[in-house]
Amino acid sequence: MKFYVVTGSTLGTSEAAGETLVEELSQPATLLHSPNLGQIADATHLVFICSTHGAGEFPDTFLPLAQEIASSENPFPSLSKLLLIGIGSSDYDTYNGAIKELAKILASKGLEPVVEPILIDVTESFEPDLTAASLFKAHEDEFFA
Ligand SMILES: Cc1cc2nc3c(=O)[nH]c(=O)nc-3n(C[C@H](O)[C@H](O)[C@H](O)COP(=O)(O)O)c2cc1C
Repeated sequence: MKFYVVTGSTLGTSEAAGETLVEELSQPATLLHSPNLGQIADATHLVFICSTHGAGEFPDTFLPLAQEIASSENPFPSLSKLLLIGIGSSDYDTYNGAIKELAKILASKGLEPVVEPILIDVTESFEPDLTAASLFKAHEDEFFA
């Protein structure tokens, strides 16, 4: 199993969520903040945790990865399980726009997550890292099945 937890973050919230998630996982995962595609292309299990900035945009550091995935014909040839977690604020019209865009890009490559993208609203969740970990755990059996 090649299991990566990949974060895209501007201010650190998604990074912290990745760190908390990896600590609580039942299986060992490699945590990477805004890697390039080459670092994760062999993934069999992949969790993306990505927040939204600008007006519904990817964090600046994550954008190159999103573009690499978009321009690759078959970005994750060995992928068996995918899960997407977005962290955003419902104060914005473009609520969680980044993870929704990533879901579209991945779907265009035939890659569907085990469940609909999990959206965390920082206006409701005051500890988004713990929320991300507990929501992942709710789908853990399916993810590792
Ligand atoms: C300048 C700015 C723009 C933002 N734009 C959006 C947005 O378009 N959609 C959204 O859901 N959240 C938006 N947010 C909220 C962030 O996604 C939220 O604060 C998140 O916790 C930041 O995660 P990070 O610390 O990993 O960067 C914005 C926040 C800032 C500061």
